[in-house]
Amino acid sequence: MSSSARSAAGFRRLWSDLQDLGRDPGTGGYRRFAWSAEDAALREWFAGAVAARGLDLVVDRNGNQWAWWGDPDAAAAAGRPGVVVGSHLDSVPDGGAFDGPLGVVSALVAVEMLRESGFTPQRPIGVVNMVDEEGARFGVACAGSRLLTGVLHPDRARGLTDADGLSMATAMRSAGQDPSHLGRDSETLARIGAFVELHIEQGRLLADAEKDTPVAVGSDIWPHGRWRFDVPGEANHAGTTRLEDREDAMLGFAAAVIAARRSAKAHGCVATVGKVAVTPGGVNAIPSAVSGWLDARGADADAVRRVVAEVEEVTGEFGGRLAEESWTPTTAFDPSLVRRLATRLGGVPVIGTGAGHDAGIFANAGLRTAMLFVRNPTGVSHSPAEWATEADCAAGIDALHEVLLDLAGGVA
Ligand code: GLV
Ligand code: MN
Ligand code: MN
Repeated sequence: MSSSARSAAGFRRLWSDLQDLGRDPGTGGYRRFAWSAEDAALREWFAGAVAARGLDLVVDRNGNQWAWWGDPDAAAAAGRPGVVVGSHLDSVPDGGAFDGPLGVVSALVAVEMLRESGFTPQRPIGVVNMVDEEGARFGVACAGSRLLTGVLHPDRARGLTDADGLSMATAMRSAGQDPSHLGRDSETLARIGAFVELHIEQGRLLADAEKDTPVAVGSDIWPHGRWRFDVPGEANHAGTTRLEDREDAMLGFAAAVIAARRSAKAHGCVATVGKVAVTPGGVNAIPSAVSGWLDARGADADAVRRVVAEVEEVTGEFGGRLAEESWTPTTAFDPSLVRRLATRLGGVPVIGTGAGHDAGIFANAGLRTAMLFVRNPTGVSHSPAEWATEADCAAGIDALHEVLLDLAGGVA
């Protein structure tokens, strides 16, 4: 069997396990939120998949799952820390099948192919399932990598709440993970000599490229962040309150949303308000409070900050406030690693992205990090329309296999 045929067969086998897990039959999208029952099933699936491949599972203090081939501590002590591949299994609300799981499944298949070929790694190889990458439940994206690298304070993480008011600490405890140990984890970080995250492309650069190229290497991530803005109002009857007597929080919210769009256009950025909470939330009651969440990104960090400042100003005109929930600065992946991978993969394109990833958090923490992107013919992501062909997924696995052959320095 050719390499592509083996990777396609390995992909099909593992991919089919995941198709129904956490899928909403109505929308066809996935709802796989951190520390939920669906997440527990995915973590169990991961544990089973790595055990079946003879890898040793370690769960770090923050709940990230690491599967090792070789002893990562002995190797780190000897100055040869491991090569880690993988991604995340959680999703946004009604997310696609590929954002996250493609990287985990590809990593498992690539490692399986190496093991079957009799490859002897000169460094340990790790496969990771990072926890809570999307931040869909508790609001902070890449919570697992931010905690691990110390960017997110453990007290803040423990106190984050979901839409039902349940704290992350409580949710973790219910899932059997002790939240008292959260925080920067030097022992786990010391095991990582290089991290390469394979991911579905969340745009159409590869699909629109003249040359037929299913895989690219990532170069950088736009600076981006999330902000919450709260607009106050006064609840009253929708039928009996004269327009001039109203304190309608929705008007300030709407003005802030329009300002975000206008300002993003003016400053060459993108801005999204994709989540809103209205109090009291009755059709026939004037809103007494509206909270919105702004996601703003762009190539230039100062321009992103200007967009946020303008939204804050408009929110303030309506008596509201805006507060930062997370910020990721401009992220550049390790230039020499990027060059090395692009060359090793036969001169594939090197592309940037506006999407956030755990790989970005690791890169900003000083780890040697890069990404691979697999072509997405729809260009759509964070939606059930996200897509990659089986042939392109197999090409991604072959590329990851090649990267491991190179970085783990063995003799095939
Ligand atoms: C994660 O996918 C993000 O870019 O928000
Ligand atoms: Mn995502
Ligand atoms: Mn992702």
